[in-house]
Amino acid sequence: MIRLSVFILFACYIVMAIEAKSLPKTNTLDQRVDSVLKLMTLDEKIGQMNLLTSDWDVTGPSINKGYLADIKSGRCGNIFNAHTVAYTRKLQEVAVKESRLGIPLLFGYDVIHGHKTIFPISLGEAASWDLEKIERSARVSAIEAAASGINWTFAPMCDISVEPRWGRVSEGAGEDPYLGSRIAEARVRGFQGKNNNLADPLTIAACVKHFAAYGAPQAGRDYNTVDMSERTFRDVYLLPYKAAVKAGAVTVMSSFNELNGVPATANKWLMKDILRKELGFKGFIVTDYTSVTELVNHGVAKDDAAAGLLSVKASIDMDMQGEAFAKYLKNQVETGQATIKMVNDAVRRILRVKFQLGLFDDPYKYCNTEREKKLIYAPEHLEAAYKVARSSMVLLKNANNTLPLHKGEKIAVIGELATSTRDLLGSWKAAGNWDFMKSILDEIKAYNGAENTLYSLGCKKMGNDRSEFEAAIEIAKGADKIVMVVGEDCDWSGEASSRTSIKIPGVQSELIERLTALNKPIVVVLMNGRPLDLSKESKLADAILETWYSGTKGGKAITDVLFGEYNPSGKLPMTFPQNVGQVPLYYYAKNTGRPIYLPNDKYKSKYIDCTNDPLYPFGFGLSYTTFSYSDITLSNNNLTNDGAIEATITVSNTGKVEGEEVVQLYIRDLIGSVTRPVKELKGFQKIALKAGESKKISFKITPDMLAFYRLDMTYGTESGDFKLFIGGNSRDVKETNFTLAK
Ligand code: NOJ
Repeated sequence: MIRLSVFILFACYIVMAIEAKSLPKTNTLDQRVDSVLKLMTLDEKIGQMNLLTSDWDVTGPSINKGYLADIKSGRCGNIFNAHTVAYTRKLQEVAVKESRLGIPLLFGYDVIHGHKTIFPISLGEAASWDLEKIERSARVSAIEAAASGINWTFAPMCDISVEPRWGRVSEGAGEDPYLGSRIAEARVRGFQGKNNNLADPLTIAACVKHFAAYGAPQAGRDYNTVDMSERTFRDVYLLPYKAAVKAGAVTVMSSFNELNGVPATANKWLMKDILRKELGFKGFIVTDYTSVTELVNHGVAKDDAAAGLLSVKASIDMDMQGEAFAKYLKNQVETGQATIKMVNDAVRRILRVKFQLGLFDDPYKYCNTEREKKLIYAPEHLEAAYKVARSSMVLLKNANNTLPLHKGEKIAVIGELATSTRDLLGSWKAAGNWDFMKSILDEIKAYNGAENTLYSLGCKKMGNDRSEFEAAIEIAKGADKIVMVVGEDCDWSGEASSRTSIKIPGVQSELIERLTALNKPIVVVLMNGRPLDLSKESKLADAILETWYSGTKGGKAITDVLFGEYNPSGKLPMTFPQNVGQVPLYYYAKNTGRPIYLPNDKYKSKYIDCTNDPLYPFGFGLSYTTFSYSDITLSNNNLTNDGAIEATITVSNTGKVEGEEVVQLYIRDLIGSVTRPVKELKGFQKIALKAGESKKISFKITPDMLAFYRLDMTYGTESGDFKLFIGGNSRDVKETNFTLAK
């Protein structure tokens, strides 16, 4: 009996596989998809719309232990949080050999900044402003994930955020829509390959998340309400998602939050009108973790069934872990509440991606043990992670050229984070392993000699235990310079890690203060996933190096920067405020009717206890050399509507060592039908200059760079006067003017 049913199942699979595969090459992808769809029962279709987590990793509040049985019965067509060839093969075999139709599973995982070889957190990578390196990071992540049985990553995260309290700023590209868009495209290219060739066994499907505006929760509290004007949404928040979709990402994830009263997962306007119609998205939409059933808590559905119905009507295709489709959709179709067309459309979109990935041709395409052995932690992957890590670090202060340190100097290394390898990986470590890694202290010792490197814990990253202070001070007395490694525990950023204070936690700053009494140069090395309030440390420390969470090779990369083996070149992708009371503080703000020109003017848009300035502006970062900028020359001061002008500037390395500089172009539209930001990033180039070298850098200015949503909500330009700025950060710039003709 068992044999017979296995035979029948196998025969069914062969029929389907033959049917799907044997279609002549002239048959389109859609015809191949339909050839499978027509074999499916309603239950099997709904099974394809169901995504369940395996118990291999925990990334949300619930786990379904019965996923094996669900795969077998066809109730679950997709799995996430499972990895390794051995395990994914086992699950794929159940789907292919034991389910009636043998439709292969998708395997999703949060491969955000690396799978095994971990790169810097996404915010850190963004600080490199190096699109090639960022693409390479996503490429390596895809190669290792694919080699490990995964065919779908839940990345890139494209959420713009001006909220340092929100822990998830660590996962994005920061505050700016232009930089965010270029990075989103680079990541899609990296994951899916340059030509989006998903048939390649070393590419994986990307997932643009979290659609939409998840990065703007009120008060910076994760999952909280988002309320913003459609204009801000379109001009700012939508852009990186749009760029990623345009780059060819085949899946999108709906976000947890509501947008202007309608939760994203039930938001027809977002999913149908914007994503599918306006952006032309052809792939499938998956929800975030249980965000369908959370519609009940949001108060827009009375129960899980109603929640599922709202989602399917909003054209959500796949339910992550909520099981509302699996439990209720069949009855809803049978009773006419939902249509079979809704189901068929969703399943078509899902099967399409499975076909694009080549899973119907070879369901075990990602399951090659040899390849897994060869590619995981491949030397070239570690090398790529090391290079990105070095480029991601931002030198925030360097009084009296405290840095670089000199080999052989006596260095006192202090702080718990100096010895922690786990923290170097940051949030979303995927399958990354920290046991074999070298810490910052290990690498400093290896470079500087153990005899020249002293260590004391000083204090932990959290808590208020001061009992090791004195020991650290004693150790520091014997050193030429002090390197204090401080910051946040890696789990203090990422999902569900919002903070009301953005100061360095615990008593770490207090110890820095105690150490200043020794009158020795103090270097603060920061590890954190968000802009911090460094107003105190910026006064106490002689040098500050922002290293984020820099990944598997972070220890060596940090050591290189500290000792001048690499000249820091990172620039902040988010504004660092003076204190949390200024938040949200971002460079593309509006001028207001009462801008402040003189500090003591009373009735102006300002605070009485703090200036409006950031501590470190967007785009800021120092180098061990210095750069000077000439005045800007324009090829023409008048730009026509079908024309282009060129802005040129000469950048010179005026210091003694070679260095890299990120030359940034900003524009301001002076008079608009609606108010316009005081500056908007419109271009950048990262260049390398030898000591004493100068280079001419040109930017092409075209009218499309000046477009925005006008008073009547049409998208386009308005003629008039513009300011154009070029500089090494958003504050210190050269400027000139041009006009856009009528
Ligand atoms: C919830 C997170 O918001 C999302 O980013 C992630 O991809 C899913 N969990 C799956 O782990």
